[in-house]
Amino acid sequence: MYQTLLATIENGIYIITINRPDKLNALNKQVFTDLNTAIDEVNSNPEIKSVIITGAGPKAFVAGADITEFGGLNKDEAMALAKRGQEIFFKIENCKKPVVAAVNGFALGGGCELAMACHFRLCSENAKFGQPEVNLGLIPGYGGTQRLTQLVGKGKSMELQMTAHLVDATEALQLKLVNHVTAAESLLDKTKDILHVIMSKAPFAIGKIVECVNFAALSDSSFNNGKSGYAKEIEAFGDCFVTEDMKEGTAAFLEKRKANFTGK
Ligand code: COA
Repeated sequence: MYQTLLATIENGIYIITINRPDKLNALNKQVFTDLNTAIDEVNSNPEIKSVIITGAGPKAFVAGADITEFGGLNKDEAMALAKRGQEIFFKIENCKKPVVAAVNGFALGGGCELAMACHFRLCSENAKFGQPEVNLGLIPGYGGTQRLTQLVGKGKSMELQMTAHLVDATEALQLKLVNHVTAAESLLDKTKDILHVIMSKAPFAIGKIVECVNFAALSDSSFNNGKSGYAKEIEAFGDCFVTEDMKEGTAAFLEKRKANFTGK
């Protein structure tokens, strides 16, 4: 099904592994095509309840956009490359099922941007994050200038992009780039544990959390039709209120039993 990804469904979790370890899983055109198809699969396959994105091999999550594809691009082609990358990362960011990055090594350039497009991130102790595009006379093009700023704040985002400094796992935790750091061997298990907790909750409400939290980043009213995140939250709260899962969740609480959510 994919040329550059390994993908398996394990107890409802779709584990997507970017599989170009010889090239440190660099994002070439084919990886983007495959990632796009994989997210369509996530959205359409009811067997898939959540997603982990990780990289093949012990060294890298993704070491960036594939630099060998940059040669000879003119301005329009470069803009088209960034636009396509951004569109696919938006699809990941807006997926209604939880998508978590398990960062198992270098997450540089487009790799850091891919991790940041996921809903949250865990990493192994050997992980290294960074936006080193300035070393190539470039800037991030797959949403990094925006998402890094949202995650670590303006000053730190400026410094990281301007210096190309690589952030290790301890610093990534301090900066809130990642939520947890684990030994490399336990990274996937810890990520699965968290997803199993999330998958025991009401799926419709999880999708609304994604919508509302993402909305918080859209300060530009041309994107959000002038609506504030608070107004969006009121609407989403109302949407949840009329679901079967809301009835089930509140009934289960009152009856002192575990809720059995169906996503309806
Ligand atoms: N694009 C294309 N190929 C890449 C790549 C990228 N972003 N990152 C690594 N590779 C390739 C290398 O060219 C090398 O291929 P080769 O064996 O055919 O020569 C292979 O992956 C292994 O990388 P190498 O550089 O030998 O490993 P290293 O351990 O010495 O260094 C890094 C690791 C991550 C520090 C280094 O590969 C690097 O700086 N990569 C580029 C990071 C970057 O600038 N990303 C942003 C791109 S916009």
